[in-house]
Amino acid sequence: MKIGIIGSGGMAKALAGKWSSTHEVMLSGRDVTKASSIAAEIGATAGTASAAATFGDVIVLATRWEDVFSGIESAGGPDAFAGKVVIDINNPVSIETFLTTRDDGRSLTQAISDHLPGAHVGKAFNMAQVAVWEDENMTYDGRQMVTLYTADNAANDTIVQLIKDVGAEPLRLGGNEHAYQLEAAAAIVIKFLFAGRDPHTIFNFIQPEVKAVR
Ligand SMILES: NC(=O)c1ccc[n+]([C@@H]2O[C@H](COP(=O)([O-])OP(=O)(O)OC[C@H]3O[C@@H](n4cnc5c(N)ncnc54)[C@H](OP(=O)(O)O)[C@@H]3O)[C@@H](O)[C@H]2O)c1
Repeated sequence: MKIGIIGSGGMAKALAGKWSSTHEVMLSGRDVTKASSIAAEIGATAGTASAAATFGDVIVLATRWEDVFSGIESAGGPDAFAGKVVIDINNPVSIETFLTTRDDGRSLTQAISDHLPGAHVGKAFNMAQVAVWEDENMTYDGRQMVTLYTADNAANDTIVQLIKDVGAEPLRLGGNEHAYQLEAAAAIVIKFLFAGRDPHTIFNFIQPEVKAVR
C-alpha cells in the first residue's frame, strides 16, 4: 500500500516505522526538513501535507487532535481525500479535565467523515500510548495486543491489514457511530497515563474470542 501520513510526530514515527518494511510511506509536516530527517530514520520519505495526501491510497491523520482540520486544509481540503481510506488516530481529550472535548455526543471521527464525504473513514490506534506502538513485539504475557477500531465498510479491510502489520490483533467495535466510545475510553487511558501508570498496563490487553463458560 501507499500510505501518506499528515504529521511526523511520535505516533506517525512509531506506526510508519513498522509499516515501512512492507509498504511505501510518506510522512509530512509544516517543517519538511524536520519531517525528512525523521523519515530517513525509519525508511520512509517525507513531503508537504499535500504531497503526502496525493501519495497515499491510505491517509493517516496524525497531527495533534486540535490540528486535524487545519492539517486536512494543508493537505488540499476534502477533494484531496476523495476515494481514499482515511485513518483517524486522534484523541480529542482535554489534559486538564480528562474528558472528551466533543460535546454533541458524536465523535471527532464522525466530524472528519462528515467533512470528507468522498473518503472511507475509520478510527484506530488511539487506545494505546506511543511507547506501546513502538514495541517491536506486541505480545505481552503470552497474549497478542488487541486493538479496537471502528470503520465504515469500505475502510474495513485496509484498517485490519494495517493493524496486523504493526503486530496487533484487530477487533472491530462497529461502524463509526461507535467511535465516540473509543474516544471516551482513551480519555480513561490518558488520565491514568498522566497519573504515572505504565503505558503497557492500561486497558490494552483484552483477548478476542474468549467466551465465558456459562
Ligand atoms: N502520543 C500518544 O501516545 C498517542 C497515542 C494514541 C493516539 N494519539 C493521538 O495521535 C495524534 C498525534 O499524536 P502525537 O503524539 O504523534 O503528536 P505530535 O508528536 O505532537 O505530532 C504532531 C505532528 O503533526 C504535525 N503537524 C501539525 N500540523 C500539521 C499540518 N498542518 N500539516 C502537516 N503536519 C502537521 C507536526 O509537525 P510540524 O510541527 O512540523 O508541522 C507533528 O509532526 C494526537 O491527536 C493524539 O491524540 C497519541
